[in-house]
Amino acid sequence: MKHTVLCLFAALLITACTQQPLPEASYDVIPLPKEVTLNQEKPFVLQPSTVVYYEEALHCEAEFLSQYVNDILSFEMKCQPLQGEVKDGIVLQIVPDDFDHAEAYEINVTPKQVIIKGADAAGVFYGIQTLRKSLSSLTSHLSPLTFHLPCGSIRDWPNFGYRGMHLDPCRHFFPLDSVKVYLDMMAMHNMNQFHFHLSEDQGWRIEIKKYPELTQVGAYRSGTVIGHNGNKYDSIRYGGYYTQEELKDLIQYAAERHINIIPEIDLPGHMQAALATYPQLGCTGGPYEVWKRWGVSEDVLCAGNEEAMQFAEDVLNEVMDLFPSPYIHIGGDECPKVRWEKCPKCQKKIKALGIKGDDRFSKEDYLQSYVMNRMAKVVEARGRRVIGWDEILEGNVSETAIIMSWRGTEGGIEAARKGHDVIMAPSSHLYFDYYQSEDIASEPECIGGYLPVERVYEFKPLPEELTSEQQKHIIGVQANIWTEYIAHFWHVQYMALPRMDALAELQWNNPEERDFKAFVERCRKMTGLYDLYHYTYADHIFNPRVWADTVPANLATHKPITLRVQPHEKYTYKGATVLNDGELGRGAYNSGRWLGFWGEPLDAVIDLQQPCELHQVRLRSLVRKGAWIYNPSSIAVLVSDDGATYREVARKDITLSEWEDRDGIFPYELTFDALTARYVEVLVKGHDLPEDHDGYGNPAWIFVDEIEIN
Ligand code: ACM
Ligand code: ZN
Repeated sequence: MKHTVLCLFAALLITACTQQPLPEASYDVIPLPKEVTLNQEKPFVLQPSTVVYYEEALHCEAEFLSQYVNDILSFEMKCQPLQGEVKDGIVLQIVPDDFDHAEAYEINVTPKQVIIKGADAAGVFYGIQTLRKSLSSLTSHLSPLTFHLPCGSIRDWPNFGYRGMHLDPCRHFFPLDSVKVYLDMMAMHNMNQFHFHLSEDQGWRIEIKKYPELTQVGAYRSGTVIGHNGNKYDSIRYGGYYTQEELKDLIQYAAERHINIIPEIDLPGHMQAALATYPQLGCTGGPYEVWKRWGVSEDVLCAGNEEAMQFAEDVLNEVMDLFPSPYIHIGGDECPKVRWEKCPKCQKKIKALGIKGDDRFSKEDYLQSYVMNRMAKVVEARGRRVIGWDEILEGNVSETAIIMSWRGTEGGIEAARKGHDVIMAPSSHLYFDYYQSEDIASEPECIGGYLPVERVYEFKPLPEELTSEQQKHIIGVQANIWTEYIAHFWHVQYMALPRMDALAELQWNNPEERDFKAFVERCRKMTGLYDLYHYTYADHIFNPRVWADTVPANLATHKPITLRVQPHEKYTYKGATVLNDGELGRGAYNSGRWLGFWGEPLDAVIDLQQPCELHQVRLRSLVRKGAWIYNPSSIAVLVSDDGATYREVARKDITLSEWEDRDGIFPYELTFDALTARYVEVLVKGHDLPEDHDGYGNPAWIFVDEIEIN
């Protein structure tokens, strides 16, 4: 305390001596308020004597405001109930009639007063967040004792009512205090739905009184796979869970911040931790272990076993006893049907229900719909709505289910056309467990992929394919953080920030025009708050590194190039020219600098436009075994003078990388006696995945970024 006083005194002296203008707040925050009108009146002076007057329902909000100001400016404003008319200080009020959007707010700043009005308490809370963030650039000032708020008015409201973030505490567990910090981060970004993924193959994380063994057995695994699903494991017992008392505390903590917690019990797949606890609930009867690997377990709840269905219903009922959420997430993603296909009970159930497969879906797909619809009834009987991942569209899910579109936006588009409400959370733009830099050697290890802040910021949640009526079904936007490779909370923060800032802009404003440069400047200001609260964040957008990886011009560069077989649609980008544009990729395979082929060869023909002398072809291929990307099995070079008949001039056979070999980028060089030719064909074939690989039975991917001809 003494130290603070001294600092303040020193700061006052500095201010007095240098005659610096007083630090002034800026309303250019994230998300950007929709309407800001400033005037030239003398600014409002925020100082220790400023009082916060609050309407009765806003006591909690007033305390937040006082706390935030204290965090940033190191003085504490008094909070007092509002009685009659006041002519000074900060006034917090709810005035529903002044607004036509829920959660809307208005801030009026005059020389004497700051009035924050909301359509509801949430609106006032977001007004307070805006005011708080407007001070974020002041966090680095030596604290003088007064601060200026420019006069004018702000009117603001959200575009989406559902503004979500997800967290997976199953693959790795995060203690309650960390989850509270996550909620603080959400509140700062005007987010209101926390999707809490509480059950997984690798750990069950919520105490269920009716099934106490779930957390005694299912919450702990006896070890964890090392690296990207290799065949080595550590033998460290790992786990944890939240008691119902802790969850009540968390629900309260969230509610004070106007955040609803949506619990997810993932059904009927991703259930191996529950099966390890109660093996009779699986098709084979086990034994099962809480899974020590990542991925999708083939062992799922037995849909033909009434006890398993009763278990799921009981769990959902207890979850609803605890969580007041209007939404209950029942999962539905990634449920392999291999056990059901062979299980006598599941097949009997299929018969009993008269389920038939058709040309769109198998009878087991429809059996999953039976499970999801049955659980939806349990949820809806208690006046709640179910959310499910987009796989639940595979069958005949009831129209009342809300679809969370994660495998791209296609599921969301289909769902909206069918009349479902939709939450957009596509992995293409909103999976924050992916890398945010191409320079992955300098990043903490994560699951893969490449999803820079720019890409998040570009996302358009309302697909143009939909009519404006159908677009109304897109009720929200959410980002997900899965934690297979995220073992510590600092890393969760690093993956979230600043991509969450881009997300906040989409959720709150979904701006028609986007100005990334201006966004980055607002983001930079937010880091004042991140530093203040010791949040870890990624700083790539503030220190952009110029990409210098190019190959010297060679015979192939920018020559007409065609592919006899197209790349996989997900990794096509600008097409064949990726291979001879001179630009090299790095470790992120979805950066647009690599073309990906799956089960098909890369077969490229380059037209050198005139007969040229050549003696060498080089190319680079990526290996990321955990992502099913392997080295090629063979590379052949063929040449032609007329573009019709080709002869092979070089060939290399390549053995499959072993799991223990390093991942990375590998150059290949095929040299031959100098010859003259106009057309060069490069044929690259892939391997099949080996027996010890999770994806055994499938082809491996091949990724190539550049072909050189010398
Ligand atoms: C998911 O990412 N499996 C929903
Ligand atoms: Zn079964």
